[in-house]
Amino acid sequence: MSDPSAYTWKQATALEGKTAVVTGVASGIGRATALQFGEAGLMVYGADINEEQGAATMAAIVASGGRGEFLPLDLTKPESIDAFVDNLKAKSGGVIDIIASVAGVDVVEPFIESKPETWNIILNVNFVGPVRMIHRLLPILIERGRGTKIVTVASDAGRVGSTGETVYSGSKGAVIAFTKALARETARYGICCNCVAPGPTDTPLFTGAVAAKLRDALIKAIPLRRVALPTEIANAILFFSCPAADYITGQVLSVSGGLTMHG
Ligand SMILES: NC(=O)c1ccc[n+]([C@@H]2O[C@H](COP(=O)([O-])OP(=O)(O)OC[C@H]3O[C@@H](n4cnc5c(N)ncnc54)[C@H](O)[C@@H]3O)[C@@H](O)[C@H]2O)c1
Repeated sequence: MSDPSAYTWKQATALEGKTAVVTGVASGIGRATALQFGEAGLMVYGADINEEQGAATMAAIVASGGRGEFLPLDLTKPESIDAFVDNLKAKSGGVIDIIASVAGVDVVEPFIESKPETWNIILNVNFVGPVRMIHRLLPILIERGRGTKIVTVASDAGRVGSTGETVYSGSKGAVIAFTKALARETARYGICCNCVAPGPTDTPLFTGAVAAKLRDALIKAIPLRRVALPTEIANAILFFSCPAADYITGQVLSVSGGLTMHG
């Protein structure tokens, strides 16, 4: 639309007919995001290292009348990322409007006890892998231009730090800074890049990493007194993907029930 002021809310939130790539679709927030994109009428290419669960998510989209396809991806392996991108280009015919980089890993332990092998996995899945993937997909978005979106998923740990998640926090801080710098570089093409920073969210990543006792203490510290549902984080990813967010770029949105109120 040439005159954004002519948007009705319905037009501003319309995503039908667009194509999205979502990583991390086997579980949690990535799964919720893929399902919501599917429901909104997009063609969804979902990627994950977990092929069985990832394919199940995409099958659920198709079963409910949407369009989706699963593609395998291991973000720790450059050759897997390259194969994924080649596969995606062939399947999509070079038509991609939205990249939602959601996949991530966390290991909670005191920094003093952590090992370089663990740092490598965390940094590769959360930061280096997505950088390589986005670098290879960027020419497609540049070609399509205005209205295309890149949405990354960081964490409030990347904004304010988190005990026991030192390298994870570092990887997420890197995602935030990368997204802002990319937003500056790609604005000239009409591409908007934004970052969603979830707080504690009810997914295997959170339940696996945080003991039940700690979880209760954390909930008491959250002003809205509960952890997020994966769909509540997906809602923010969809918002940044919509025409409604065409004038928003380089921003970080915490979705954390008020746990962090960042200036
Ligand atoms: N759950 C939370 O409390 C929380 C809080 C802040 C940020 N986040 C972030 O949200 C994002 C999604 O996390 P989630 O909570 O849904 O976790 P999750 O564990 O439910 O899902 C993560 C997904 O990433 C995939 N993945 C892991 N390693 C991969 C690899 N090498 N290549 C490709 N895919 C891989 C997993 O298979 C899984 O499907 C992550 O980036 C995470 O850091 C989550």
